[in-house]
Parts: sequence; structure tokens; C-alpha cells
Amino acid sequence: MSAPDAARAVGAELRSDGAAVQAPSAASPFAPFAPPQFLFGGDWSPEQWDRATWHEDIALMQRAKVNTVSLGIFSWSSLEPSEGVYETGWLEEVIDLLTEAGIGFFLATPTASPPPWFTRAHPEAMPVRPDGVRLTHGSRDTYAISAPAYRAASRAIARMLAERFGDHPGLRGWHLHNEYGTLDHGPEAARAFRTWLRARYGTLEELNRQWTTAFWSQGYGEWEEITPPRTTQYLHNPAQQIDFRRFSSDEMLAAMGEQRGEIRAAGSRAPVTTNFMLPSWNHLEQWSWADELDVVSIDHYLDTTGPDAETHIAYGGDLTRSWSGGPWVLMEQNASGIRIGDRTLAKSRRQTIRHSLGYLARGSQSSLFFQWRASAGGSEQWHSGLVPHAGGSTRRFETVCELGALLEQITPAVSLPADGPLIAAEVGILWHADGWWALETPHLPSDAISYSDEVRATHRSFWRAGIPTDFVRPGADASGYRLLVVPCLYPLSETQVAWLEDYVAGGGELVVTYLSGISDPSLRIVPGGYPGRLRDLLGVRVEEMLPLPAGEQVALDTGAVVEEWTELLEAVDAQPLALYSHDELRGRPAITRAARGKGHAVYLSARLRQDSRDAFLAETAARLGISATLTGAAERGLEAVRRRGDGADFLFLLHHGAEPVTVRGAGTDLVSGSSAARGLAVEPGGWAVIALAPDAPVEIVHG
Ligand code: GAL
Repeated sequence: MSAPDAARAVGAELRSDGAAVQAPSAASPFAPFAPPQFLFGGDWSPEQWDRATWHEDIALMQRAKVNTVSLGIFSWSSLEPSEGVYETGWLEEVIDLLTEAGIGFFLATPTASPPPWFTRAHPEAMPVRPDGVRLTHGSRDTYAISAPAYRAASRAIARMLAERFGDHPGLRGWHLHNEYGTLDHGPEAARAFRTWLRARYGTLEELNRQWTTAFWSQGYGEWEEITPPRTTQYLHNPAQQIDFRRFSSDEMLAAMGEQRGEIRAAGSRAPVTTNFMLPSWNHLEQWSWADELDVVSIDHYLDTTGPDAETHIAYGGDLTRSWSGGPWVLMEQNASGIRIGDRTLAKSRRQTIRHSLGYLARGSQSSLFFQWRASAGGSEQWHSGLVPHAGGSTRRFETVCELGALLEQITPAVSLPADGPLIAAEVGILWHADGWWALETPHLPSDAISYSDEVRATHRSFWRAGIPTDFVRPGADASGYRLLVVPCLYPLSETQVAWLEDYVAGGGELVVTYLSGISDPSLRIVPGGYPGRLRDLLGVRVEEMLPLPAGEQVALDTGAVVEEWTELLEAVDAQPLALYSHDELRGRPAITRAARGKGHAVYLSARLRQDSRDAFLAETAARLGISATLTGAAERGLEAVRRRGDGADFLFLLHHGAEPVTVRGAGTDLVSGSSAARGLAVEPGGWAVIALAPDAPVEIVHG
């Protein structure tokens, strides 16, 4: 098949110059992502090792039942040692070894790390920091995403790899780039930003209006006067800041789309993904990216080894499943060490297994790690690997082998349901990167409120109640959710507000928290009382935002404890559910509920402490008849997730509690092979994956 034909066959469009570009929001022919077994393995960097080690690695992979590695992620200088000179012999050799061993691979485009020859030839393609410092090579992620030379070089190497390896039977998918996320403030970005702004606003007058440039004499008379938000004397214009974040996401998406276009034009039909990154930073608007990927994948790094790690896994898993709209790929997780502050703490054997199962339970089709073999040298020589520096004869590697064997045992759970969701959830949490970016603009009434923390706190409450949740894209069909929570989505468009109104009118229960609907998309506050855009729906009018001093707590009349945030509000057309009971707010509403159409809209003006938030959201769910996956499990520390498969359900049980719990149901634990018909005990720290008939009941009988 010719390249243009191949491109047409997979839904790409052709540019006038004959090169393929990605069709916007083309439905993926590869979705849902359905490998025959859970993918197990990790990033493998044979270019760092000699051939003897390659052979040792393959033998160890076979011992551990590894079936997938990710290759080439940062291999640009090994693949193209000088411009246009390609050396792929080593990669062919490596792929041959893998193929002989029956191991598949994701192949990365190495564009996250341009080599030194590129930097010297194209200094203008290196990113510029806000303070004007242009970065150079010596680390990674040094690229100016808008620089034509970088884009051309990225397309060329993607094309070359696709031509040489794109139809390899072992290719499980394309891993484009790595964690897109370098922001550039240089001249190339400025040019592209202006083009993006012209498309968004049409005229400078409109931009000046939306950006409120009359403030501090920022009125723009020429497009060329506009720059990315570079270092300036004092506070930036928030509209400029959020638009720059949106632009940067779109620009990186366009770059990713070009690579995908080259791959399709070369005739490769393998699924395409790129690895998103959570939790520490967020430079992508994930919903629009997900539209352009055949499957969403994520690198998920924990920020604790304590009990909240389990919650964090659930959060990452639910988010990624929601972005993907079904199954997804866990591309990286910590092999063993978790970096906490200034030291690396180890995961225990049981954590290693439970954590992997936690992702799989929530729709991951893989348990992949960074990285296969811990590097001997280079910047990340102290990042852990599945094969530690001490080698394969180690306790750590025994755990890897145990995990590999376990993943094989639970293979039936990789299947996908013929229809309906992977996990049936009646609770939705609204998610949009705009919320994250808006709360990162400085000098808000409280800069201590973080979008990520707020969303996680909300999700944590449902996790603690054992209630499954999805994340919801603004504008999506939310009619299947009995409860929809909107944590701190500061900007909302008129369309989004109308969508929320429809949700409630149709019978939904909406819970909106403080700092939602405050502004329009340009972060212009809607006057007349907060939350301007949602006042009518919620039936409230907030006169004042009253952040609390750090560390101070106050109580509501219900006994709920509040920290960080309170408001002076009037319940115009809503019933108070809870009142403030301190100082001047005493007797004033804190939480309200308004009847609208067939549904209700609840407003939470106070930031409830986690335990109070847990209680409030659990009560709300109970009032709506929303139940936990397994009644009584969460209270005992037993996490229960029911993943739907082809003709069967798979109940993942992960025990974080202290006492054994016995569950009973007409199914069999795929791990131990034991029947649960007369009761199956799950030990503290342990796990089970029970295969059941769809919707078959399960109960806790003891413990
Ligand atoms: C990831 C990255 C990997 C490696 C890893 C270390 O974010 O994709 O290449 O750097 O972190 O934890």
C-alpha cells in the first residue's frame, strides 16, 4: 500500500504537500485497547548496556514473564548520531532478540531529548525560560515546541522509525515523545502564540477586552507586542497566563499530531499513544489529547509510601480511564523506590503487587514500570529498576517474578465488556485543566487552594466510602450519573453553565464547591456576587470570600469542621443544609440545596476538612441511594473494585486494613484458585481477584 493510501486507510488527511496530517478527533480504529493479556514490563534502554547484558536481560525477562518493553524513549543520539545519518542496526538486533523471546514492544519517538548535534545546529530550537535564559542540552526535555527545525526533525525521525519498524508484528503501539510538557517562552513560541490568539479572538480589540488590558496600561496596538508571560516586574495578567497554558497544550498536541501523521503516512497501523504525567504538574488539556490518541497512557508516580498511596493510585486510575473512555495503559510507575522529599523510600513486596492490581482494577491493560534495569550511569542512576543494581538474584527481582506470574493468572480479567463501561459508576467528578491552570494564577483570595488537591480530596472521600467514580468532561453526557461534583472549576463558559443546568433539570444532583464558576474563560470575574455564572442554578449569592488564616479551623452547626475557606453568602432561593457557627458568620448558611426541575443543586461554600468532607459526600450518596461496590468493605480497609469483562465481572479485592475479611460470592479467586462460594478470606495486606457472573452478588460474611 502506498503511504498516501495507508494514511487514508487509517483516517488521516493529506496536506497539500502530500504529507499526512492527523484528522481531528478521528474515531480510533484501535479503540478499545484490547491486548490478549495484561502487558507487563517497562522501559528498557539497551543502548546503555553491552550485548552480554542484553542477553542476560532477555533471560531475566523470560523468568519474570515480561511480555512488553518500551524502547527508544530517549535514544535520539543513538538512532541519529548526526543529522540525517540513521543507525538502527542495534535496535533491529534488540527487536530480534525480543521477538525470539516472544516479547512485544512499544516503540517511542525519541523527541523528548534532542541530541547535542541538533542543539548546536539549531540553537533557536531550544526552549527559553520566562526569565529569558535559553536552555541547552545536557539534560532532557530541551526543545522549543514551536521551532520549525525541531518540528521538522521530530517528523523526520518519527517517519524513519515508522518506515523501518512500523509493521513489525511485535509492535504493540507507538509511544510518541515522552511526557510532553516543556513550556517555551522564546520568539518561536511568541509567534505561534500570536497565531493561536488571532484564531481565538479574531481582533486585537476583542483580545484587549477579554484580557482586560486597560488595567496597568497593557492595551495592545499590534499583535507583535504580545509575548508569552515572560518575567516581568510584578504580577502577570491572568488571562494572558491561562491562554498561554492553553496555547502550549494545543501546540504540543499539534506537534504530537504531526508525528502521528508521519507514522500513518509510512503505513504503520499500530495504535498511537503518548504518556501523560501525574501528579506534580499538568501542562496538557487531557480531554482534547485523548481525542487524538488510540489509547491514553500515563506515567503515575506516587507522592507517598503511606496509606494515601492507595488513594492516589485509585485517583490516577479513575482519571486515566475517564480520559481514555475505557481501557488504558499504565506506561510507567515506580519500580520500587518512591522519591519523597530528599530521599528514596522503598515499596514493600506487598505494596508492589497491590499497587499494580489497583491500576488494573481500574481499567489499565498493563503494569509497566520505569524502568527495566536500573541505569549504572547517567542522571537517573539512582532511580529504581525492576532489575536493581545488584542484579537478578535479589529479593526485589523475586517480587517482580511473583508479579509476572500473578498477572498471567489473572489474564481473564483483561477482557473487555461487549458494551457498557468497564466500571459502573454513578458518581461523576467534573475535571478540566482550566481549573488547574486558573488556580495557579497568583494572588487569588487564597493561593493555598490547589485544584489538584481539591479534586483529589473529593475523589478520596468516595474512595473511602468504597463508591466508584468517573471523571467527567464538561459537556459530556452526564445523565448516567446520579451525583456530579464540581470541585473548584473557577472558569466556566456560558455553554458549560447551561450544560450543568440541563443536568440538574434532568434529575441530577449537582454539588458545586467554592471557587467554581467565578469567572468566564478569560478569568474575568462575573460581577453581582459569586459564583456569578452559577448563582441562578445554585440559588445563592456570595458577598464575600473569607479565607481562614492558615491552620485555623471553625465548625458548622452540623459538627462538620472547616479549614482554609469560608464565605459570606445569602441563600436567595435555596434551603440551608448547614450553618456557620462562628463569629460574624454565625447562623449564616454554609451549605445549601436548591430544587431545580427534577434535580437539585447543592452549594458548598466552606472547605470541609477531609473527614467532614468524607461524611458529607457519603451522606449525599446515601441519600441518593448510591451504594458502595461491596457493602461493609471500605470500613474494614478492604478496597473492592468491580471491573467488567467479557461475560464476567472481576472483583479486585485489595486489603489495606488490619484484620482478615471473608467475602462470599459465586466465583473463584483467579490468584489462589479458591472458590469464594463458601467464603474466601483476604488477609491484611493481601489481595484476590474473583471472577464472577455479571452482576452476581458478593457479601462480607465475617471480619
Ligand atoms: C518519568 C520519566 C522517566 C523517568 C522517571 C523517573 O517521569 O518519564 O523517563 O525519568 O520519571 O522516575
